[in-house]
Amino acid sequence: MTSTLLRGRTLSFVRWPETIDDHAAWLYEEDGGVLISDGRIVASGAYRDVERQAGEAAKEIDHRPHLLLPGFIDTHVHFPQMQVIASYGAELLDWLNTYTFPEETKFANAQHGRRIARLFLDEMVRHGTTTVTAYCSVHKASAEAFFAESHDRNMLNIAGKVMMDRNAPEGVLDTPQSGYDDTKALIKEWHGKGRQHYAITPRFAITSSPEQMEMAGALCREHPDLHMQTHLSENHAEIAFTQQLYPRSRDYTDVYEHYGLLGKKSLFGHCIHLSEREADALSQSGSVAVFCPTSNLFLGSGLFDYQRFRRRDKPLRIAAATDVGGGTNYSMLRTMDEGYKVIALNGEKLNPFQSFWQITRGNAEALSVVGKIGTLDQGTDADIVVLDARATPAMRLRMETAQTLAQELFLLQTLGDDRAVREVYVAGRAAKSDIAN
Ligand code: GUN
Ligand code: ZN
Repeated sequence: MTSTLLRGRTLSFVRWPETIDDHAAWLYEEDGGVLISDGRIVASGAYRDVERQAGEAAKEIDHRPHLLLPGFIDTHVHFPQMQVIASYGAELLDWLNTYTFPEETKFANAQHGRRIARLFLDEMVRHGTTTVTAYCSVHKASAEAFFAESHDRNMLNIAGKVMMDRNAPEGVLDTPQSGYDDTKALIKEWHGKGRQHYAITPRFAITSSPEQMEMAGALCREHPDLHMQTHLSENHAEIAFTQQLYPRSRDYTDVYEHYGLLGKKSLFGHCIHLSEREADALSQSGSVAVFCPTSNLFLGSGLFDYQRFRRRDKPLRIAAATDVGGGTNYSMLRTMDEGYKVIALNGEKLNPFQSFWQITRGNAEALSVVGKIGTLDQGTDADIVVLDARATPAMRLRMETAQTLAQELFLLQTLGDDRAVREVYVAGRAAKSDIAN
């Protein structure tokens, strides 16, 4: 097996950066190297040290002066919504009924699912995202299409078919029993196959009956190592309708709590309007709140209070995500640019090191996969993004006055998108340059 030696300016995080000067929180090499063999990182650090380990046969790829970072991770995205993105004029529940559910009915057709899965993962890679936690449609075939495409590319992805048995058109409904059976079959076929992970996915309380919630709880008990993903407290009308559907629950979070869906592998999209009790319950169970800034702005849902959630006595674990097609961009750079603005509207700041921590190691920690992805550490999978802070004329001009790494990262976040992504490695294989345009 020949190995590959990447040369460039390497940046990887060891923990949350408390401040912009918290240098111990990251590893940065002005002349860095990453040695890859058999899809894994064998060594990383100063180029001269890594080169010594590489041996004569290693193929060297020189990415200087660009930055090498761990591939970006998107922790909440709907792959069947590629033709929903940019749908005008509605808040959450109308948006679901008018645009999203009708679009998702098309995924009953397996061929459509395969086409969109292919284009979706192309788009992710083009934007520097090497891992997603994805919602498929209700149709088993949509999850099969997603996993087949993901497995072919050897990507580490987490996904599940949504379970939904009410309050939506017939064409996107399952039943408690069929949702359970299809999920079981998909887990058996795909979970642990190569780099594929299954996530148990009750869409949200509005579209699942109490019977289906029971089934989702049973699946989590039967598969305690699996992720669970759903939506929570995104929009006021959604919260009111949920309370009406589950009148005995103390609050929205209590619906999921009641069915045993909270825990360290549980991912709750949005979490915008949580009470202190709800935040405590999420914190105590180790559940993850997923920040989806472009979606929350686009649908007018509200402002996620990132810094308050981090700082409270019982802090929340936080992930960041695009939430396409409620979200408006596939790029984690664009996502964190909008995230910065949401946090600013809450009177706070997120510094550029914290941002890049979040979309790499931070999201890997939130998904409990940091031993596999999210850093450039030896022994982890070689999922790597190559970033060019001079990718456009405007970026090039602004870079003339950027003097520090922090300024360069902030520029990448503020002005960057897929054009700033020069190359992407998936398990050591150059994947972006492989995509036909
Ligand atoms: N809540 C339930 N389903 C969805 C969805 O597809 N997108 C968003 N943003 N919220 C949801
Ligand atoms: Zn969502």
